[in-house]
Amino acid sequence: MRLRKLLTTTALLAAGLAAPLGAQTPPAAAPATAAPAPARANPRATFPAQQRPPGDPVLIAKGKAIYEITCRACHGPDLRGGDIGGPNLLRSDIVLKDDHGELLEPIIKNGKSTPGVTLVMAPLPLSSDDIRAVAEYIHDVVSTARGQGAPPPGPPVVLNIVVGDAAAGQAYFAAKCSSCHSATGDLRGLATRIGDPKDLQNAWVNGLRSAAAPAKPTTVTVTEASGQRVEGVLVRVDDFSVVLTAADGRRRTIVRRGNVPRVEIHDPRDAHTDLLAVYTDKDIHNVTAYLTTLK
Ligand code: HEC
Ligand code: HEC
Repeated sequence: MRLRKLLTTTALLAAGLAAPLGAQTPPAAAPATAAPAPARANPRATFPAQQRPPGDPVLIAKGKAIYEITCRACHGPDLRGGDIGGPNLLRSDIVLKDDHGELLEPIIKNGKSTPGVTLVMAPLPLSSDDIRAVAEYIHDVVSTARGQGAPPPGPPVVLNIVVGDAAAGQAYFAAKCSSCHSATGDLRGLATRIGDPKDLQNAWVNGLRSAAAPAKPTTVTVTEASGQRVEGVLVRVDDFSVVLTAADGRRRTIVRRGNVPRVEIHDPRDAHTDLLAVYTDKDIHNVTAYLTTLK
């Protein structure tokens, strides 16, 4: 519904911009070359982030849709921190200093971890345009949060992680996770190894590679223009070559020129990033409740 609306608005904007010069355009439909909107009149605003002019509504709507799918589970429906322990973004210094996503981009693309803090944010494969949209949405929420003033008061979010239904979590695991994991195989003793339920939840939602888990390697398929294919474990890739170890154990270096040959990289943990868009809060609670039983 929201997406459809978004598309329609975008199409209208595009149509407006494409109108021939001199065409009769009512002022309301004029393209966005008008004078910049006046800053939000907010005498009590203390942070630059709260004094910024209102953002582009189309971009904000797009950013909200991306936030709901990609960030909400961790940072919460209102940015104040979520079930999986992402910090409150309304209070984040980085968010307050960011202008148009330039400070958020490296965090989203590379992830973030603080030494001594067990929770980490895994890298997320969003495009720069998507990140700009998310930034626009976040700034919009910050600048309108409670209408004014400093970041909202109140205690940090208290997390109660193990509130789910373990039996429902087990069924979910059988349906969505058992193609790669097993409670009696690789995840045996998981809850003994990772005792804190918050860390455990973070580990499974992110698909973290733990020291104890046998690392499943990233593989690569190289297809020559002739259709001939070479597959193997990825050793290294850059714009000029790809290095892999083939099934026979031999290392091969293949030269790249532009898109030839075609190189497809498969990181087995991509499944975790894809699944992030699928879980509901309830699924997350249920699966965590189930995994805490794997002692
Ligand atoms: C799986 C959970 C998770 C997801 C998904 C996630 N984050 Fe995070 N994020 C975290 C955690 C945990 C931290 C704290 C990491 C640290 O500082 O060690 C963090 C930190 C941040 C920070 C830095 C805050 C600060 O002031 O230090 C920003 C900004 C941020 N996330 C934005 C986003 C955005 C935008 C998205 C969606 C595109 C997103 N995150 C998705 C868990 C997550
Ligand atoms: C397509 C394969 C795939 C699917 C599906 C998948 N995972 Fe993973 N998962 C991985 C990979 C790969 C890793 C990284 C560990 C490694 O390199 O062996 C991982 C890591 C984990 C870890 C951390 C392991 C450890 O020992 O610390 C947990 C826990 C986990 N996944 C749980 C789940 C749950 C729960 C689901 C379903 C909701 C799921 N996974 C779905 C492939 C998958």
